[in-house]
Amino acid sequence: MKRNKIGLIGAGNIGGELANLAMTKQLGDVVLFDIPVKEDFAKGKALDLEQAQTQSGSDSNVIGSSNWEDLAGADVLIITAGVPRKPGQSRDDLVGINVPIIRNVAENAKKYCPNAFSIIISNPLDAMVYEYQKVTGFDPAKVAGMAGVLDTARFTLFLARAANCSVKDIRAMVLGGHGDDMVPVLSNCTVSGVPITQFIDQETLDGIVARTRKGGGEIVKLMGTSAYYAPAASAISMAEAYLNDEKRLLPAAALLKGEYGFDGFFMGVPTIIGGGGVEKIVEIELNDDEKAMLAKSAESVKAVVDVVNKTPA
Ligand code: APR
Repeated sequence: MKRNKIGLIGAGNIGGELANLAMTKQLGDVVLFDIPVKEDFAKGKALDLEQAQTQSGSDSNVIGSSNWEDLAGADVLIITAGVPRKPGQSRDDLVGINVPIIRNVAENAKKYCPNAFSIIISNPLDAMVYEYQKVTGFDPAKVAGMAGVLDTARFTLFLARAANCSVKDIRAMVLGGHGDDMVPVLSNCTVSGVPITQFIDQETLDGIVARTRKGGGEIVKLMGTSAYYAPAASAISMAEAYLNDEKRLLPAAALLKGEYGFDGFFMGVPTIIGGGGVEKIVEIELNDDEKAMLAKSAESVKAVVDVVNKTPA
């Protein structure tokens, strides 16, 4: 038996925490990759992480690298390459810088890691996943964007605190694009099957929906850069679902081919993630308000995809 190989493209804030979690959970050996000027930084971070694992007892290996050959044959690629938001910026403001970066990463992934399950985190998320799949030509089932799990984590936390119950018992989902018009779905939200409205009044719920939508921006404003612990934890849940064939129902940005009435772009929808990657898109019942919100969110995603398509090579 050989260990899984986890390639982390981008050794920054999220990349470092991804490595920490992947090793602690013994998901496999890790390659922490960054551009040549950051190679020493990646190597130093790898050494620090490997030394930290002596305390958890994990035997996972990690190397820092700027050589794509070290990623050859990776089972999972998690991509954070790019720049994060600064206060006042929207995710869409990052297109100009992050599109050339995702194209470069995609060309190399295609060459060196043709069998990997790719999880994209770079923003603007839905458009970056679209571009990555287009350039790699990978089977869409093997490419997913991480946003829904993170947005749902934020939604879940706020709901649990307001309901005064455990985060473990909240059943909730956030769908749509990873932007301010994402769709926190209240119609099927429960505390272990009991309608959430039995625990939280409508005004508070409305406030939670609004806070969830701006959940990333709230942290950017406080820290001066994007969140990294929750994004990393969320992507690791997706990687685990794939590597362990868990067949979990997780919201993720997947290529839509008619589901929910949309076609030809990636957006956050409920998916089953297992050993085949995105094995299925699950269509759930939404109320009219939620359908309208999803349509609005899809328009926003498509507008950014149009800009990406027009970005010269
Ligand atoms: N190949 C590999 N790594 C790259 C490339 C590239 N072509 N271009 C940039 N990087 C690296 C940067 O050198 C940096 O180390 O990506 C790393 C990004 O790390 P941070 O700046 O710390 O950003 P982080 O907070 O990890 O967020 C990364 O995820 O959530 C999104 O909006 C966020 O797009 C941003 C991304």
